[in-house]
Order: sequence, then structure tokens, then C-alpha cells
Amino acid sequence: MATRHHAAGSTHPMLTDTRLTITDHEFRQLRDFIHAHTGIALSEHKRALVCSRLAKRLRHYGLPRYADYYQLLTQDDADGQELVAMINAITTNKTDFFREPHHFRFLSEEVFPAYRRNPNRERPLRLWSAGSSTGEEAYSLAMTVLETMPSFNDQDVHIVATDIDTDVLARAEAGVYTAEQAKRIPAELLRRYFLKGRGEFAGEVKVKPLLKALVHFEHLNLLDDPWNFYGLFDVILCRNVIIYFDKPTQLKLFQRMGATLKKDGYLMLGHSEAMHGLNDLFKPVGHSIYQLRGKT
Ligand SMILES: C[S@@+](CC[C@H](N)C(=O)[O-])C[C@H]1O[C@@H](n2cnc3c(N)ncnc32)[C@H](O)[C@@H]1O
Repeated sequence: MATRHHAAGSTHPMLTDTRLTITDHEFRQLRDFIHAHTGIALSEHKRALVCSRLAKRLRHYGLPRYADYYQLLTQDDADGQELVAMINAITTNKTDFFREPHHFRFLSEEVFPAYRRNPNRERPLRLWSAGSSTGEEAYSLAMTVLETMPSFNDQDVHIVATDIDTDVLARAEAGVYTAEQAKRIPAELLRRYFLKGRGEFAGEVKVKPLLKALVHFEHLNLLDDPWNFYGLFDVILCRNVIIYFDKPTQLKLFQRMGATLKKDGYLMLGHSEAMHGLNDLFKPVGHSIYQLRGKT
């Protein structure tokens, strides 16, 4: 039987250079397991990707076959630690500061000015970055808020940023980025909202406390039901996340996000994602931007 204990923490020398291959049966088992726990739907053409992303977990335990790893996940993971590691290995975390800039333009030109003008606005302004990865999206939101409404502080705006992947959340929380990651941040904003690393941290930048104070990172699997949020949101960004889910899961998430938005709230999706069949719930108001209809 595959046990986690005998080889955990070490790399098995015999397996380091071995090319692991996955059988049809092993792929189907792992694919179904991943789908059940994350919503991520992996088609046959993602087989090589699954294989390579999980290979490091097999090597970590010195396991020769994916069947052994499946057994470990399903029968020898009582505390769920390997499930967390498997999810962290399987997720795709690509992100960027101000990715899909038209969303941030829409927020600073339409949504935030309307919020500020509204005499009945509910305080605080609440924004959710769902599937926030390493935090660039959430910090871009925070910069957009402060650039549009410079007097806002952590009493006026709450940005909740969630992800299923505990590794990316830890990096988001640290708020440290390489020069390469920071190159999409306009120079003026970089100066205003980031500290420059010195000495051994030269080349890196770190989010300043005034920006950090607006963002709260939390672990959340979007499949969890219910989501225990304190209050509704003005805007939800769920970008480049549902593309990995199947249609029924997407539909259910859109409905739940509708129920999680304030009246006239907005949902923003990634550039290649669209909402189909929920015209009575949301109306399109821009490229991959939807507004909640008729909630009172
Ligand atoms: C490609 S990144 C997108 C990051 C950011 N939203 C953007 O557009 O730049 C997708 C993120 O969704 C997260 N994710 C995948 N399945 C999830 C789930 N079931 N619940 C929560 N987050 C999930 C992944 O861990 C990953 O960090």
C-alpha cells in the first residue's frame, strides 16, 4: 500500500530521472477526483499537463505509479494535507497587474464615480477578487480605488480576495513581486504604492501598508456552499477562473454570485469567458462585464 509516511519529505533517488507515464484508467480516476474537489474539468488533451504537474507529488513520496498516488489521496490522507498539495500543484495561476485593463477603466470611469455620487451608498464599498491567485488583481483593484477616491481608507472599502490554492495566497499576503511581475504597474503607481527592495531584495517591490490595509486574503474553494461572507458585494471579479469549469458548474456559480451582489452590482469575467442563458439575472454592460438586474 502507498503510505505517505515512509518517504514524505524526501525525493526517491530511483525515481528522480524516471519518466512517469499515466494509464487511461489512472488519468480518469485522477481527473474525476480533481473535478469533484475543485470544479476544474480536465479534458483528454490536458493529460500531459496533469501528468507533469502531479509527477512532482509522486516523486516527493517515491511512488512509481499514478495509481499509488490516487490510493494515497483517497485512502491515506485523513488530515487532507495531500489534497491541499495536490490542488496547489494542479491549479493554473497565471495573472498580472491590471490584466484586462478595460475592467479597471470601467471601475474608475463608471462604477466608482457613480458610487461616490450616490447619496444612499452603503459603506463600505465591497469588492471581491474571486480566484485572486498571487494577488495582482486585488492590489490592482486597491490602486484603482485609491486613484479614484484618494480619501478612502480601510473603513470605506473592503477588498476580499480568495483562492483555493494556499501557496498563491501566501505569496499574495506577502505582497512581494519581482521586477518582471511589477513591470505592468505604471511608474507613478509603483512609486506611490510599493516599496523598493534593497540589498538582497534589490529588484523586488513590496506592497505598501496603505494598499495592503484594503485587501483581505482568504482561502475559499468556490465549490463550497455556502460562502460565509459578511455582507454583499458591489463588484465581483471572477476572471480566468470559470474557464476551467464545466457549464453546469459555471451556471451555478453565476447564480450564486448574483445572490452575493448588492442591487445593481457588477460581475466581471475574463476576456474569453461569457455568461449564457442568465439574461433575466444579469445584463451585459461592457466587454465581459455584467450588471445584476432588478434586485430590490
Ligand atoms: C488563472 S488564475 C486567474 C487569476 C486572476 N483572477 C486573473 O485573472 O489574473 C485562476 C485562479 O483560480 C483559482 N481556482 C481554481 N479553481 C478554484 C476553485 N474551485 N475555487 C477557488 N479558486 C479556484 C486558481 O487557484 C488560480 O489561482
